[in-house]
Amino acid sequence: MNATPQSIATRPAATISDAQFKTLSEIAFSEAGLMISDSKRQMIQSRITRHLRDIRCDDLEHYLREIQSDKDGNLTRDLISVLTTNVSSFFRERHHFDMLRDDVLPGLVKRARSGHKIRIWSAGCSSGQEPYSIAMLLLNCLPDIQNLDFKILGTDIDRKILDRAHRASYSPDEMASLPSDMSRKYLISTQDPKAPYEISGVVRNMVTLRPLNLLRPWPMKSTFDAIFCRNVLIYFDAETQNDLWPRFHAALGDQGTLFLGHSERIQSPEKVGFSPCGVTTYTKQNLGKVRPEP
Ligand SMILES: C[S@@+](CC[C@H](N)C(=O)[O-])C[C@H]1O[C@@H](n2cnc3c(N)ncnc32)[C@H](O)[C@@H]1O
Repeated sequence: MNATPQSIATRPAATISDAQFKTLSEIAFSEAGLMISDSKRQMIQSRITRHLRDIRCDDLEHYLREIQSDKDGNLTRDLISVLTTNVSSFFRERHHFDMLRDDVLPGLVKRARSGHKIRIWSAGCSSGQEPYSIAMLLLNCLPDIQNLDFKILGTDIDRKILDRAHRASYSPDEMASLPSDMSRKYLISTQDPKAPYEISGVVRNMVTLRPLNLLRPWPMKSTFDAIFCRNVLIYFDAETQNDLWPRFHAALGDQGTLFLGHSERIQSPEKVGFSPCGVTTYTKQNLGKVRPEP
């Protein structure tokens, strides 16, 4: 955009006015459902300053005008990427993976062995640790998985973080949460000192990564046996969350399992066709069996 390299490089953090912060919050909400409260102002300010520096723009007002007339959506997509929080780790909230292995997988394997395809969706998969953890768990539990039809879909609104997920290479710190037997089996060395390990092809081949905004229509035609949507809805308001429960219900097959993040809950699960079956975990119930409210 419009500045000299020196003026940008030496510029202190942009101060965002109340009106500019409001505009940014409105874009985050309408485009991605993200609630940006005033307590996040400092964080947003430093992210936006870095972003403006990266795109060589020295005028936030001008940038916001460009966003509002953004025809092809590229500027807006990049802004959403700046505003999302992408924290993730391998086998995060370990109890969900134990539950998948011990309680959910036996039924799925039975179905797979009788010729059914099994589909698992990691919705809001960020840099890929969640879908790759699921794939490693499946490979570890099922030595003959190559003969069964198991696939994992990882989606995220943030295309930049999906590029990272595609690269599937991580720093030693990021790899630290991988159990050692999994590291031995499913990591390969790279030439990059900053990311000396990457996920092996056998794991990556089980995972398909696609951009998807949860607020917009979902193009998937078949249903899922399990959905992981963890630490995503926490950024949405109650109304947006409530709009999503019926959509998750419809996206799950019979008895499908929905895994949410540690601070996410369905308030009245039985009203939207779910029954709790573990820590922030729900099983799909047939809505026909749900009793109407008196
Ligand atoms: C904190 S990460 C969670 C990653 C992973 N599920 C986990 O628990 O480790 C939240 C992710 O949700 C994504 N996200 C936020 N709003 C979204 C939306 N409207 N549609 C799809 N993904 C969204 C963000 O881009 C981010 O990568």
